Amino acid sequence: MKLNIVTTASGKANVSALFYVKKSVQFSNVLSENAEKQVESVLNGMEDGPFEDLELLEIDGTSTIFVNAAKERGLSSLDHLRMAAFRLAKKASKRQIPVVSIMLADAAPEQFKSILHGLHYADYKFDAYKSKQKEAFQVTFEIVAGEQAATFKKIAEEVAVENKAIVLAKNLINTSASDLYPEEFVANANTIAKYTPGLSIKVRNMKQLEKDGFMGHVTVGKGSSHEPYMITLSYDGTKLARGKNTAKNAAKNARTSADHLVIVGKGLTFDTGGLCLKPPKSMPEMISDMSGAATALAAIQAIATLELPIKVSAVCCLAENAIGNKSVLPGDIFTAKNGKTVMVDNTDAEGRLVLSDGLAEAGLIGATHIVDLATLTGAMVRALGYAVAGFFSNDDALALNVINCGEACCEKFWSMPLEEEYADALKDHFADLKNTGSDAGAIAAALFLQEFVPENTAWAHWDIAGTAFVSKAWKYTDFGATGFGVQTLIELARRMSSVCDESENEAIQSEEYKVC
Ligand code: BES
Ligand code: ZN
Ligand code: ZN
Repeated sequence: MKLNIVTTASGKANVSALFYVKKSVQFSNVLSENAEKQVESVLNGMEDGPFEDLELLEIDGTSTIFVNAAKERGLSSLDHLRMAAFRLAKKASKRQIPVVSIMLADAAPEQFKSILHGLHYADYKFDAYKSKQKEAFQVTFEIVAGEQAATFKKIAEEVAVENKAIVLAKNLINTSASDLYPEEFVANANTIAKYTPGLSIKVRNMKQLEKDGFMGHVTVGKGSSHEPYMITLSYDGTKLARGKNTAKNAAKNARTSADHLVIVGKGLTFDTGGLCLKPPKSMPEMISDMSGAATALAAIQAIATLELPIKVSAVCCLAENAIGNKSVLPGDIFTAKNGKTVMVDNTDAEGRLVLSDGLAEAGLIGATHIVDLATLTGAMVRALGYAVAGFFSNDDALALNVINCGEACCEKFWSMPLEEEYADALKDHFADLKNTGSDAGAIAAALFLQEFVPENTAWAHWDIAGTAFVSKAWKYTDFGATGFGVQTLIELARRMSSVCDESENEAIQSEEYKVC
């Protein structure tokens, strides 16, 4: 897809796209009087005759696609715009329409952002393993933005960065485990750190993990021929002097956040279940058990590229849960980084073990806020399915922020309880803790993680087992990785970095797009 943002229509478009809801056209203050009348009669008459979504009609001498942006059940108004834009882009590409213009002069910035994300989603394909790669037809979208052209250009740049991160996460998640083992993930992260200004990387291999006492990784990873790794990526946006050296910029630069957000991602490049072997049916999907780490890597790449004025780190906890003659045995006990001893009751509950190290590392590097994300439990898949991620938090402000950021990004989150009544079930006879607990599996896992959260740190744990990967086409995602969480993490960093009050926000908004 190519994008061209213009003030008024160039006249080069082959087709115009009009979004409509029921009988009214959206965002279109640029129609001629004649065209307006014709559109009105088409929309008034659509109930009488066959009228389908994406109908192509001649309006005032211009081929016009009517895109139905009506609210779909369960989706937010921004999400149905994404869906509509996604369908439009698919149709334009299939019909090989070179230039499509979309009238968006009246669209609000967040509506434009949603439409753009929808157009980008239509471009994604993962055909690396197909014997023949098909070239998709490249459509140019001309966005007729009126007076908002400058603002929309800025938004389009941001969306391009976000989309690049989403594509990165999806590609990593969709890649087979024999091609993406921990060392290969590290190679990808090294390349990203190298080409992203301001992003630094520290990598620990098996020997260093053992030496530093990160025994969760060692315990989970030692059964595999691929050694485990822990990656710590760091970015400090508070140190960037942004813009020209003017008094206004200096004031803006001084208004940086004191927070340090650390994103911790579960990175099981494959999860066989270990000696507590998984059944064959549920195993192939375990190529996605590194979704948390991929999402963390993708998000920090975007956050650094966008130069958000906040300190952010990402810890990727990488291992392969395999069967070998050195595999951890059920009943084995190890000492975690924070000194607590853990009995491995079930080798398939491995994510929480590597995450115990990730949480400890977050504390060591000075996190004020931690978000860990993990394809952690089958229980969460059964509870909330693929459309909603359950999350747990020890901090109400962070929890609210997660829900609000998710809503802005069309990613749904549901707050779950850290139910203390189930905490005793984690106690072991010999060790301090065991890695299984009550029948409420997702809560048990979250309570286990809570034992490793550094003191005085706001923490949220996202269980993305259901939302990271879909086994049938859903919304604007085909079979496979959804990229869930990338946008919400970026938005969280964006909002945490904006410590401005309303009047400052107004002043800033007039010069650049910023959401506080
Ligand atoms: N990676 C799985 C969780 C999972 C399930 C992710 C389905 C995506 C889709 C995790 O490591 C796991 O196996 N958890 C066990 C824990 C149990 C043994 C306590 C589970 O949920 O069954
Ligand atoms: Zn498992
Ligand atoms: Zn797992």
